[in-house]
Amino acid sequence: MKIELINKESINDKKNLTLKLITPQRLTKAKFKRTLDKAGFKAEQDTLCPMHGKSLLFCGLEEHSDENIRTAAATVAKAIKGFEYKTLSIAVDKTSLRPIIEGLILGGYEFNTYKSNPKKMKIKKIYLSCDDVKELGALFEETIVIAEATCFTRDIVNTAPDDMHPETLAKLAKKLARDNKLECNILDEKALKKEKCGAILAVGRASRHESKLIHIAYKPQNAKKRIALIGKGLTYDSGGLSLKPAASMVTMKMDKAGACAVLGIIKAVSELKLDIEVHAFVGAVENMIGGDAYKPDDVLVSRKGDTIEVRNTDAEGRLVLADVLDYAQDKVKEPDYLFDFATLTGACMVALGQYTTGVMGHSNRLRHNLSKAAGAAGELTASLPFNKHLKKQLKSEIADICNISNKPYGGAITAGLFLDNFIKDENKEKWLHFDIAGSAYTESPWDVNVHGATGAGVRFMTQFLKSLK
Ligand code: BES
Ligand code: ZN
Ligand code: ZN
Repeated sequence: MKIELINKESINDKKNLTLKLITPQRLTKAKFKRTLDKAGFKAEQDTLCPMHGKSLLFCGLEEHSDENIRTAAATVAKAIKGFEYKTLSIAVDKTSLRPIIEGLILGGYEFNTYKSNPKKMKIKKIYLSCDDVKELGALFEETIVIAEATCFTRDIVNTAPDDMHPETLAKLAKKLARDNKLECNILDEKALKKEKCGAILAVGRASRHESKLIHIAYKPQNAKKRIALIGKGLTYDSGGLSLKPAASMVTMKMDKAGACAVLGIIKAVSELKLDIEVHAFVGAVENMIGGDAYKPDDVLVSRKGDTIEVRNTDAEGRLVLADVLDYAQDKVKEPDYLFDFATLTGACMVALGQYTTGVMGHSNRLRHNLSKAAGAAGELTASLPFNKHLKKQLKSEIADICNISNKPYGGAITAGLFLDNFIKDENKEKWLHFDIAGSAYTESPWDVNVHGATGAGVRFMTQFLKSLK
């Protein structure tokens, strides 16, 4: 399916379907009101009324807002899959262009890699007709790049864990670097030993796949800012010896969603040619069981040098991130911002629901700016505040820190505070942690998301990076 921006013209072709987004208010004056009345169409949000005799499709819109237009376009993208038209045309303007593209691309997304006979969509082209292609051209291109980067992230997350393990994820990152002219350095286990990444190595030890630390960088000339992005890349999280219950293990291929988001973001930033230096770091590891698995009671020595008492091998993401965060802070000198993305805790979902990304960090201003960017990008975020009392819950009797809290409450925040232990003093105010445990994956559709990965983080972070001057 290709989307093209064209100057306003009515396409007089029986094989073209014209979409009309219509509010209840506009419906009262609509040209085909009587026919629409007969069909019982009230222009309620996301309701559809096809008029095939006229090659028209009406979709209801409660009122004009980005969110409503986005979900309406997503509804249309799904509905037209069975239609026999060759093209679809939609009139757009400055305000509706972006949500329409997002709804079409993200709402129409399908992951068909494992389907023997995926249904082919008959509509091959979507025309977005506007008053002035020149005026909207840049916004059009930019929106497509970001939506496609989101789908790129979704595709990787959705790939089965036996096909997307640390080694294949590293290969994929290498290809992305080659395609987008990015620098790329991949640390294998030998290199991780040299780097003293004791935490990463312990988590990955029972896997038949070698753990990898992936670093790719986009370095434009005269960059105005320098950003480090860090992603949790657990290509599978069985829980390790603290084994997950069977039902909780299903979907744990999504535990690499932070890593995939980071790859999607650097893809978007490099294609948009933003004037900022971006480094993406990924800890690609598989958390498995076996005779050589790391265990509760182990004490790990992290790259930073702090010792970590393991009391639960299912709290593995923070262990991997401890080493990756430390490595990233050594490699990226004086970063302006440091952001990590991780499907870190079930507790984040308990706190915020499964649609909202949890945002943690020390700088209120930075959290505020991020939430503004997320609002503009159409992603849900909410702050979870740190406090010194919760920090004390990570105290270990035998090592420097414990990998789980000694109390059952505030689990998303204590996980964030564990990461905080590995943030250097000079970077405290520049760092934010995003817990995407709920928002990264869904088994029932919501907003522009379909079954599977959502690509959480890609849109809001790209929006934030775009806004940096
Ligand atoms: N990957 C999980 C978190 C998760 C759970 C993500 C559900 C998405 C959906 C993480 O590694 C984990 O298992 N965390 C534990 C931490 C606990 C042992 C302190 C959790 O949330 O139960
Ligand atoms: Zn886990
Ligand atoms: Zn995990």
